[in-house]
Amino acid sequence: MKLCMIGTGYVGLVSGVCFADLGNDVICVDKNVNKIDLLKKGKVPIYEPGLSELVVKNYKNKRLTFSTDLKKSVKSSDIIFICVGTPTKKNGISADLSQIYNVAKEIKSSINSFKIIITKSTVPVTTGDEIEKILSKKNSKSKFSVVSNPEFLREGEAIRDFTYPDRIVVGSNDKRSNRVLKNLYGPLISKGAQYVYTSRRAAELIKYASNAFLATKITFINEIANLCEKIAVNIEDISIGMGLDKRIGSRFLRAGPGYGGSCFPKDTKAITSTGDKFKTNLSVIKSVIKSNKNRSKFLLNRVNEILNKKIKNKKITFLGVTFKANTDDMRDSSSLSMIPSLSKKGAIIKYYDPTGYKKEFSKVKNVSSANTIKESVEGSDLVIIHTEWNDFKSINFKSLIKGKKFIIYDMRNIYSPKKIRAQGFKYYSVGR
Ligand code: UDX
Repeated sequence: MKLCMIGTGYVGLVSGVCFADLGNDVICVDKNVNKIDLLKKGKVPIYEPGLSELVVKNYKNKRLTFSTDLKKSVKSSDIIFICVGTPTKKNGISADLSQIYNVAKEIKSSINSFKIIITKSTVPVTTGDEIEKILSKKNSKSKFSVVSNPEFLREGEAIRDFTYPDRIVVGSNDKRSNRVLKNLYGPLISKGAQYVYTSRRAAELIKYASNAFLATKITFINEIANLCEKIAVNIEDISIGMGLDKRIGSRFLRAGPGYGGSCFPKDTKAITSTGDKFKTNLSVIKSVIKSNKNRSKFLLNRVNEILNKKIKNKKITFLGVTFKANTDDMRDSSSLSMIPSLSKKGAIIKYYDPTGYKKEFSKVKNVSSANTIKESVEGSDLVIIHTEWNDFKSINFKSLIKGKKFIIYDMRNIYSPKKIRAQGFKYYSVGR
């Protein structure tokens, strides 16, 4: 099948490359000339394990091409995936759909044969209806179909998530598109992926409701972890004990610095805005947003206590600053609020991240990037393990330093408190 992916961010590039790998002809389109030039040279603008190998392989065998010409690419394709961004609007709550609607307007004049137009971007309920209205202005409804097919991939696990999805959700009001999509996803369905066919609006909502639910699960366990700290109970026992109940499930019950990234913060806000629009108060999700926002403050208070309320001139190390491991993405990472706040209080901060220097801290006073774990912890008073990279999972802290021992605050509960304390380090973690 001939596919066109509009937008080469995480969703568009990963799904485009994976569709090509399944044997389809895929054109990936982006307005950004530099990005397209880079991709043509086999260089991938985002950090995603395994992606660049697949780009090179499929570009060489010509199943994957790159272009900046949207209209031409749409004309030569049967299925068009809209994968542009839906960031949070300046009002700080609802989704900004300007990129989606601009793309729909451009597609409008390039419908030269029956086209299936699919939103893969996360879009609020009724966006598909709006796209249909835009396209209908210039085309008869028999010439196109608008479908919602949300993507559930996680950064850092994107290729595996695309290839082995728990489910594929397709929402359309037209059976012909359903048949085409079921066929397109055939190779994944035959490996066990569940295919869920719904109305278009339901598919749009499934994506938001899923992300909001996962964000709720994380926030819930973080609050229970706060209670555990007060009553000398280990949060991990709670996560295991709860997670074994099949109705609850064990995943996304890891306590930590709160959820971040490009999706959860944006999508939780957008769904409450949709709720308000349709006069439905999504109060649970609203309190999740509030609780997660307070999470950094809570952990900073803990840092203050750990350092006996003397943050000024203390040397603090951050191991990992991205919102999670296996990504270079800094969007809504809790480090973005913690580091400037500690700097304001007079701390001297060094960070080491496996994905290198972060421009986000370039203007924050007394913050520097180290090239190695060892360099980052030298002379440190407090080492904060912020992100759960494998690189941080078996550090021999004892052999790493010669002089005075630093305190360790493990925000991801990577280490066994007993073992670390046995090496003579003061060790704190989350909810235990
Ligand atoms: C998420 C969804 O999982 C994915 O389905 C959707 O398409 C995009 O948003 P992603 O943002 O890549 O994916 O990250 P994810 O692995 O879900 O983690 C999100 C945040 O939650 C991270 O900050 C992570 O550290 C945190 N998290 C996750 C926890 O704190 N505890 C957990 O148990 C799981």
